[in-house]
Amino acid sequence: MKAKARAHTNIALIKYWGKRNETLFLPMNSSLSITLDRFYTETSVSFDQEMTKDQFYLNGELATDQEQEKVSVFLSKIRRYTGVDSYARIESDNFVPTSAGFASSASGYAALTAAAVKATGIELSLKQLSMLARQGSGSATRSIYGGFVEWQKGQHEDGSDSFAVPILEQGEWDLRVLAVEVTTQAKKIFSREGMKRTVETSPFYSGWLETIERDLAALKQAIVMRNFTKLGETLEANALKMHATTLGATPPFMYWQSETFQVMEVIQELREDGIEAYFTIDAGPNVKVICEPRNESVIIDKLTQIDTVNHIYTCRVGPGITYLDR
Ligand code: ADP
Ligand code: DP6
Ligand code: CO
Repeated sequence: MKAKARAHTNIALIKYWGKRNETLFLPMNSSLSITLDRFYTETSVSFDQEMTKDQFYLNGELATDQEQEKVSVFLSKIRRYTGVDSYARIESDNFVPTSAGFASSASGYAALTAAAVKATGIELSLKQLSMLARQGSGSATRSIYGGFVEWQKGQHEDGSDSFAVPILEQGEWDLRVLAVEVTTQAKKIFSREGMKRTVETSPFYSGWLETIERDLAALKQAIVMRNFTKLGETLEANALKMHATTLGATPPFMYWQSETFQVMEVIQELREDGIEAYFTIDAGPNVKVICEPRNESVIIDKLTQIDTVNHIYTCRVGPGITYLDR
């Protein structure tokens, strides 16, 4: 009744932003991401008849009550699905900054799902794992797979058609993602809270939903054609639109800091000099730059000159979930 799994984070090119059902984690819109090789989580789960509650250790320390509760609520969904009824000891290590806009919730819940299900001894398909991971954190739906991955929002209110689908395998398009760290401080407004407030109060949210299918179709077309310019223009515009919705919320909020703008400006300058690079930003101040391998070093050189940049992580397209020896 014990298993260990690894899952990688992903960066959305078309963002998931907003839920239509918060219990089942059903999204308002479909999204599309690249799984990243550089950032991941390793989680082991061991079910034990003797335990009287779940115990969650994150990065070697017993997690806070609030984090225990979140993980326990999620494990109960797995228990219900698999029919296993004992509590578990969960040990997880993030090889990614936690809660800082580097998608630790994606790798965290994908790894937890894979390990927990494996520990029950019940075999499920990747599609079923994707639907379970979704109910821990939406972005985790996509981290079950490697490569380029679409999370189809689905139509049904029971969530049975809301899961991830692989679009391109790892290795089918060698792009680079430069994760530009300006801070690893935890965000003040979790993604969960930020998207909820936006859906409920921002008049710009309807504009987001109106153009999402067009953005998604353009991005998928760019992937099929391996058209980097179209991919870049589409993903950057989509990220800017997502962040614009937060400015219209009540109370308004913004995930960017002045360092974020500095990075965005440098990317624009690079493009003016004929070097193709595009940025995207999740719920935090750090920026992810997408480029082709041939431009990677010149872009890194230029970004390194910004004195507020702490670190640049070079990521390639990464793999889906894997199982590890304990
Ligand atoms: P991020 O940008 O890191 O995804 P979120 O606000 O979306 O930030 O999610 C952060 C939350 O994800 C944490 O508060 C915690 O509840 C959860 N999380 C992070 N890492 C793990 C992990 N390894 N296992 C389980 N849950 C995790
Ligand atoms: C901006 O998956 O972290 O990164 O489903 O509430 O756990 P919950 O939120 P989360 O939201 C991710 C939002 C985003 C965009 C994306 O990854 O698609
Ligand atoms: Co997250």
